[in-house]
Amino acid sequence: MVSLRTKAAVICTIPPLLDLLPDTFMKDYLIAPSILSADFARLGEEVNAVLDAGADVIHFDVMDNHYVPNLTIGPMVCEALRNHKIAAPIDVHLMVTPVDQLILDFAKAGASYISFHPEATVHVDRSLQLVRDQGCKSGLVFNPGSSIECLEYLMDKIDVILLMSVNPGFGGQKFIPSTLKKLEKVRKLIDDSGYQILLEVDGGVGVKNIREIADAGADMFVTGSAIFNSKDYAATIKAMREELGQSPNRSH
Ligand code: DX5
Ligand code: ZN
Repeated sequence: MVSLRTKAAVICTIPPLLDLLPDTFMKDYLIAPSILSADFARLGEEVNAVLDAGADVIHFDVMDNHYVPNLTIGPMVCEALRNHKIAAPIDVHLMVTPVDQLILDFAKAGASYISFHPEATVHVDRSLQLVRDQGCKSGLVFNPGSSIECLEYLMDKIDVILLMSVNPGFGGQKFIPSTLKKLEKVRKLIDDSGYQILLEVDGGVGVKNIREIADAGADMFVTGSAIFNSKDYAATIKAMREELGQSPNRSH
């Protein structure tokens, strides 16, 4: 049986047809389950379960009951996951203020990506540089009501732009539709900049809306309750990949 990917490869050798294919056809989308919705009593097991089910990245929500009205997990839990032999990228989302000390602590604990909200630090440029100095990928997070203007001056210091599609602080909330317009705007900013920057979306993402979010320009999808509240993690991730037009059994 000739696989879809082989067929695609053959098709792609014929130049005119290449232009007919939508941009998203060969795009590599990243699915990042948010462990905020996992069963914390079995966290190591839950993380292995979603990775075995086909997830790419583990999204790690850090809340300090100060920047957001909730309190979650710290660097020692990130370190515990690394000690539990979790090798997948860990995407740390800091909803805290200030951020610099926790950037150092999470880098030491094994974080791969570290993102923070620009209004949570006094010196955004310096804090982004601090993340990269630790050897981690740097990211900025924008709340639904926050302007993205500062991006213009920071594109050379950013590896990930994360758009919140809910107000931060809780899982299980509804996707805010105006995020689609913001995604299109940031997608254009990234493409015009020429920098390799991931465009990530966080909040209310599920099987039903993941396609339109991808069409608006996102390439990394945080999804918590849609996966962890489902009976079959593999079936849910497979359904998401099919919506994205990706083969469920793609190699990582
Ligand atoms: C909310 C967090 C999100 C949240 C997503 O502040 O940053 O990562 O856990 O959960 P769902 O997918 O359930 O909206
Ligand atoms: Zn998050």
